[in-house]
Amino acid sequence: MKKILIIGAASAIASACARLWAADKAEFFMVARNPERLRQTADDLAAHGAGAVHVYALDMNQLEQHALMLEACYGALGSVDIALVAHGTLPDQAACQQDVALALREFSSNGLSVVSVLTLLANRMEAQRSGTIAVISSVAGDRGRYSNYLYGTAKAAVSTFCEGMRARLFHAGVHVLTIKPGFVDTPMTKGLPLPGPLVATPGRVARDITRAVERRANVLYTPGFWALIMLVIKCVPGFIFKRLKL
Ligand SMILES: NC(=O)c1ccc[n+]([C@@H]2O[C@H](COP(=O)([O-])OP(=O)(O)OC[C@H]3O[C@@H](n4cnc5c(N)ncnc54)[C@H](OP(=O)(O)O)[C@@H]3O)[C@@H](O)[C@H]2O)c1
Repeated sequence: MKKILIIGAASAIASACARLWAADKAEFFMVARNPERLRQTADDLAAHGAGAVHVYALDMNQLEQHALMLEACYGALGSVDIALVAHGTLPDQAACQQDVALALREFSSNGLSVVSVLTLLANRMEAQRSGTIAVISSVAGDRGRYSNYLYGTAKAAVSTFCEGMRARLFHAGVHVLTIKPGFVDTPMTKGLPLPGPLVATPGRVARDITRAVERRANVLYTPGFWALIMLVIKCVPGFIFKRLKL
């Protein structure tokens, strides 16, 4: 029975992954900031076949609480086969440009809190000498764009951190997967004017993620066509890119 830690467990993408793992009777330690949503998620997983579900309420911006949370996780599960780090927010870029405190809070939600928990988790997994750490970054981290560069900066930091952590933990038999979704239809993107054909369902993305965990992929663009889109976007020269209000 797989033992799975999910941080940001109420996320639509994380919930869809958890349902797939629950069908194999996995045991879960679920972390989310809203106790009510956490309970609903746990009930949903139990209904989908989960072996056992432990819950832990935590706002991941409380960085000083991360060690205690991991202590509780290892106390409940004993070891971790898969850790999925999924929490995040989509900041209002224009508002962040006017409010440093807001910008830094959003940077913490999407970047610092991830670096903090991964630092502690990497040491645990390294000692364990097995398992996979899967982290949801974003295609937004591949290039700084006019419309969301605060979010993109945080995700770029997460992607780079994961790349280095992958090289370190490889030598301990621990795998690190960086997940880069494109547009996904979740509460995070609700109401945004997104190009329909490019928007994936959480279920589709979750299937890609669980498969990538199984085959120990390093970086996953999901759906896969985003690898091509981002290749093209990364090739646009800077003198053109700065003129685009993307
Ligand atoms: N949707 C997309 O198009 C897209 C694209 C690329 C990458 N991503 C990434 O995918 C991941 C999952 O997002 P999603 O699309 O599934 O959206 P979602 O359903 O809105 O999930 C985001 C989750 O993060 C949680 N969260 C935010 N700040 C937190 C904090 N400080 N502490 C604890 N939990 C916190 C939220 O908690 P609450 O439920 O309490 O709000 C929410 O459950 C995120 O990392 C996101 O950046 C999404």
